[in-house]
Amino acid sequence: IGVLTSGGDSPGMNAAIRAVVRLGIDKGLEVWGIERGFEGLLDGELRIMDRGSVGDILHRGGTVLKTARSERFMDPKWVDKAAELLKALDIGGLVVIGGDGSLHGGLELAERGITVMGLPGTIDNDLNYTDFTIGFDTAVSTVLEAVSKIRDTSSAHDRTSVIEVMGRHCGDIALYAALAGGAECALLPEKEEDISGVCRKIIEGSNRGKLHSIIIKAEGTATPGDKLVKMIEEGTGKETKLVVLSYLQRGGSPTMSDRLLATLCAEKAVNLLAEDSCSKAIGISGGAIVAYDLADALKMPKVFDENLYSMIDALSK
Ligand code: F6P
Repeated sequence: IGVLTSGGDSPGMNAAIRAVVRLGIDKGLEVWGIERGFEGLLDGELRIMDRGSVGDILHRGGTVLKTARSERFMDPKWVDKAAELLKALDIGGLVVIGGDGSLHGGLELAERGITVMGLPGTIDNDLNYTDFTIGFDTAVSTVLEAVSKIRDTSSAHDRTSVIEVMGRHCGDIALYAALAGGAECALLPEKEEDISGVCRKIIEGSNRGKLHSIIIKAEGTATPGDKLVKMIEEGTGKETKLVVLSYLQRGGSPTMSDRLLATLCAEKAVNLLAEDSCSKAIGISGGAIVAYDLADALKMPKVFDENLYSMIDALSK
């Protein structure tokens, strides 16, 4: 079997690689590590992994296999080439650890006769078939640490802080960080922007004696951060600062939840490959590890959690 990480890295990818390698070897499988995702596959950057090759990585962010976003893999002729290469090496099963784009890449290979196990590795939590993705919990925890620090200085200066977090199409990092971090508002790509509503909320808070306001904005919302800050300053008369957390959210040691999710998903993938299963997407639903048909999983619609969203407002009044 082969294992690769693809797309944006996420904390917990290493925990998944480690478990695929060690549990795969335990099942009598030969495990190949493919570097730089589909790009490395096309360039033949593969090596056999032994148990020692994944030592001392469980607690590390990033991915020891490296990762890439592959333009070439968008072209069917390169996907054909990748499938031929895997077959020539007798690699019939492939564990793809990545987000939506990566799992779609995996599906292309599955349609060419490779058995693909998709593991949800992305901080964005944008894979609809799973409640959580590997790396999301760590990313939100990192955002929460930043929120606490920014709140201290915000209160000291009686300021508003707009904190921009990752998420181009999915606002889950902003949604969960706003709820768990006690923000006034979350601005998400899934919701229409109401900047005058945000200003109203800040003024109401200030009138009640609140010393700071925290607004968490996902990067994929309509108004860019610098413009938003100006609009809030104009609408509230209060000094407003922008903090863009950017790649800080992608690094760091994975939390217990991410290590566990990565390990359990990897275990499921290896067991299914050893049983000669068809291609699956593996994730977690209602606390249990699940495996759905890969093509079906990638068609599942996202359900936006309105309750979580409305609680942010209710809790910060
Ligand atoms: O998909 C994960 C993600 O971190 C997004 O939240 C972000 O928009 C994007 O990747 C950044 O991608 P890149 O690493 O290619 O700049």
